[in-house]
Amino acid sequence: MCGIVGYIGHQQAVPILLNGLKRLEYRGYDSAGVAVYQGDSIEVIKAKGRLNVLESALAGRELRGTLGIGHTRWATHGEPSDVNSHPHTDASGEIAVVHNGIIENYIRIKQWLQEQGTNFVSDTDTEVIAHLIHHFYEDDLLSAVQRAVSYLEGSYALAVMCRREPDKLIAVRKDSPLIIGLGDGENFIASDIPAILPYTREVYFLNDKELAVLTCDGVSIKDEYGRDIKRDVYHVTWDIEAAEKGGFEHFMLKEIHEQPKALRDTMASRIAHDLSINLHDLDDIDIEKAGKLFIVACGTAYHAGVVGKYLIERMARLPVEVDIASEFRYRQPIISKGDLAIVISQSGETADTLAALRELKRQGATVIAIANVVGSTITREANKVLYTWAGPEIAVASTKAYTTQLLVITMIALYMAKRRGAMKQRNIDDIVSDIIKLPDKAQSILNGKEAVQHYAAQHFSAHSIFFIGRGLDYALAMEGSLKLKEISYIHSEAYAAGELKHGTIALIEPGTLVVALATQPELFDKMLSNIKEVKARGAVVMAVVQEGNTAIEDVADYVIYLPDTSSWLVPMLGVIPLQLFAYYTALYKGCDVDKPRNLAKSVTVE
Ligand code: AGP
Repeated sequence: MCGIVGYIGHQQAVPILLNGLKRLEYRGYDSAGVAVYQGDSIEVIKAKGRLNVLESALAGRELRGTLGIGHTRWATHGEPSDVNSHPHTDASGEIAVVHNGIIENYIRIKQWLQEQGTNFVSDTDTEVIAHLIHHFYEDDLLSAVQRAVSYLEGSYALAVMCRREPDKLIAVRKDSPLIIGLGDGENFIASDIPAILPYTREVYFLNDKELAVLTCDGVSIKDEYGRDIKRDVYHVTWDIEAAEKGGFEHFMLKEIHEQPKALRDTMASRIAHDLSINLHDLDDIDIEKAGKLFIVACGTAYHAGVVGKYLIERMARLPVEVDIASEFRYRQPIISKGDLAIVISQSGETADTLAALRELKRQGATVIAIANVVGSTITREANKVLYTWAGPEIAVASTKAYTTQLLVITMIALYMAKRRGAMKQRNIDDIVSDIIKLPDKAQSILNGKEAVQHYAAQHFSAHSIFFIGRGLDYALAMEGSLKLKEISYIHSEAYAAGELKHGTIALIEPGTLVVALATQPELFDKMLSNIKEVKARGAVVMAVVQEGNTAIEDVADYVIYLPDTSSWLVPMLGVIPLQLFAYYTALYKGCDVDKPRNLAKSVTVE
């Protein structure tokens, strides 16, 4: 959950490093720093706080050099401080390192180095790496890095520079993301693509334990044994605007509005003119004989998995177990060879989800990844990958990734239903016809966002907000509640509407805000009863229903109507008003919508 950058070339390094870090701040932003080779030494400038604090510190210094590394941090070991910021160096300033990840055996290595007389200045695991490389360094940086990382346990993406070898940069990764940008007479290291987009679209993805040696003239990639590897160049198709805010006040609002396009892009090439679902990557999986399907993810992606359970069980009649990834491994799941699994992850780097994926594979399950970041670790370790083509999602609060995850998992459910003969073709075709119309229906909801904005303006000072629903609406309520919590910091709970009377309704008092999702026809009457129950205790109710259900106006204070669609597809539309409600509530509260406190976009530690 940190961002690292590196540069070697013919331009001044500092502006390139800072520009790259700006685009990586969503990965963590409690401190930042740069190291530049200047004259015959490595100069390090680093500071606690957002990137602008580092920029101020640099403004006072003439830091000139064409080789450098940079880092923006989300603290794991050692609280945010100047001394705990990266880059870290050995005592002599020979080696400088930036790191994203967690070294799980750093204390043991630190003690061993201290016994050799090494003094440490920080509380971080990363400083250990700088000293360890220096310990092994004689006159070859590559072999020193190779030897040092062979002792490291845990996750790391490293950029390393050396005072006596200013003609190169070394990059190496295990379990944390790292890409190499390829320029003309210059080359780049970054945690993610947006950081290098202004300079190059040609990138290498590094696989686990691979090293890259960057010089001005080229990049060589080696395996952990030092053997050269040939790697295809990936051409990035994103344009810079796609990684910027595109005229919206916040990335989150931009990404909410990108959902029609994201849905369109994600279904493109997967739905044929004859309405057949083409998921050819799954064609060689024995879906017919599968006995069970696991769905494992975190946060918003987990909420997509809960919707997926409902849909796959109903459409494909395949038993589904859905788990929060950080719980999954520790419940001793019963996994049989031939079982299927779907792991869902926007970033493709979430440590809990990656660990669950490895456990599923270890026990013989076939793992399908749904991810949004090409070349991310989870996509490279899964047996199969179905990408959500949502484009870069920069806001910490996930929006377009969620709706496109729902779309992919809905297509998987329909694909499995057909393969297992669990649904009539005409019923499948009817749903696919509705899927094709979803982008326009999503756009119509966005066009009417003022109603939601008005409702948020009425209630942004609420202290606690309940989201209630049944079936798919309960799964949707979970996502609506999380969106609100993570950006407005208002306490909120998602509750199965039928469960309220078993305790939680005691919390409802005059003025309590309740968002009631009542989009499922067969559960509508029961939802009306639940709304009346909370109204009787003084609640204020915003209901989300499908157009036509005007009976709701007799019981709810506010009603948001969704365009008509198959009830099984409603979550992809029903979430949009909830995203907007969370966004405007946070905006009116003056919260940092794109970078909420305590959070980072990708949680790459367990
Ligand atoms: C979503 O709004 C949150 N930022 C968070 O719950 C996120 O969904 C979770 O950390 C999983 O991330 P992933 O999809 O990248 O694995």
